[in-house]
Amino acid sequence: MNRIFSGIQPTGNLHLGNYLGAIRNWVKLQKDYECIFCIVDLHAITLPQDPVELRKATREVTAAYIACGIDPDACTIFNQSTVSAHAELAWVLGTMTPLGWLNRMTQFKDKAGKNRENAGLGLYAYPVLMAADILAYKATHVPVGEDQKQHLELARDIAGAFNSRYGIEFFPQPEPQIFGAATRVMSLRDGTKKMSKSEESDNSRINLTDTPDLIAQKIKRAKTDPLPLPATVEELATRPEADNLLGIYAALTDKSLEAVVQEFAGAQYSVFKGALSDVAVAVLSPITAEMNRMMADPASIDAVLRRGAERAGDMAATHLRQVYDIVGFLRP
Ligand code: TYM
Repeated sequence: MNRIFSGIQPTGNLHLGNYLGAIRNWVKLQKDYECIFCIVDLHAITLPQDPVELRKATREVTAAYIACGIDPDACTIFNQSTVSAHAELAWVLGTMTPLGWLNRMTQFKDKAGKNRENAGLGLYAYPVLMAADILAYKATHVPVGEDQKQHLELARDIAGAFNSRYGIEFFPQPEPQIFGAATRVMSLRDGTKKMSKSEESDNSRINLTDTPDLIAQKIKRAKTDPLPLPATVEELATRPEADNLLGIYAALTDKSLEAVVQEFAGAQYSVFKGALSDVAVAVLSPITAEMNRMMADPASIDAVLRRGAERAGDMAATHLRQVYDIVGFLRP
């Protein structure tokens, strides 16, 4: 059985990068796989979070999953802290993860910044918990954006380390699924930086909660270069802003980048930006409306999460018991 696990941190606004790099692909995959989609609140607290905001963001990410088209009856949707097997398995896996592997993780370096001595153990161990998320379900496939590739390679190495330590093929090697025209959506203010929840300027990203006017305004203000749009995909290598905006357009319209470059070859940015605003609003505004509708009824969101926690909890508990047996823990 092919099983998907993926997750998003409930840390502030969901943006177009989360949608195009992750959620939209999940919607496409849910027909062909058994799917588990998590709201990773344990990961969220690796950086300080306001408790009230964290609870709200957890519901908001849940609402976004469903509003984007994830079917809560067919898929398991839950928040990570409700299934204790994640933290328990992370402990076991952490005992067989060399520090050298963790020291290579670029996300830790980015998030810890210059003051690494003050970074928390949780931030450092973040990828081990992520491996536990995936392996607790023996997931075979993990659809994510490009930025998570290194973490998934580590998860594969950790699965291998467990299997080889105990001489058993217990965990499958989870396959990353990184696809679509926008696996790495860049900031609207700087085509060389990733679009991110933590970027200070809200103008750098399009949030799933933005109004149509705000979306249009942000696209209008998006950084560009002084040339007309290029006629070939090759030219995009040296034009990060054009590359990013055309990639977003391609992803939103389900066209290839080549086709979109052809469509706007030689056009002025003002013309292209108008078209981009129109498609962004057309795709996002029904999602925003549905999210708002759902957020007005938090009890129904909580019911989805409760049901998901039960399903996920049963599956993860079974695997954790097997792990504890393999490791040699006595269960008197
Ligand atoms: P998070 O919340 O940072 O990102 C959630 C998903 O959105 C993708 N993403 C992007 N894709 C394209 N362009 C961008 N600018 C962009 N920004 C974010 C991410 O690649 C991700 O797929 N550590 C994970 C959460 C996690 C997880 C897991 C994922 C925890 N456990 C187990 C898979 C399996 C993360 O990046 O969250």
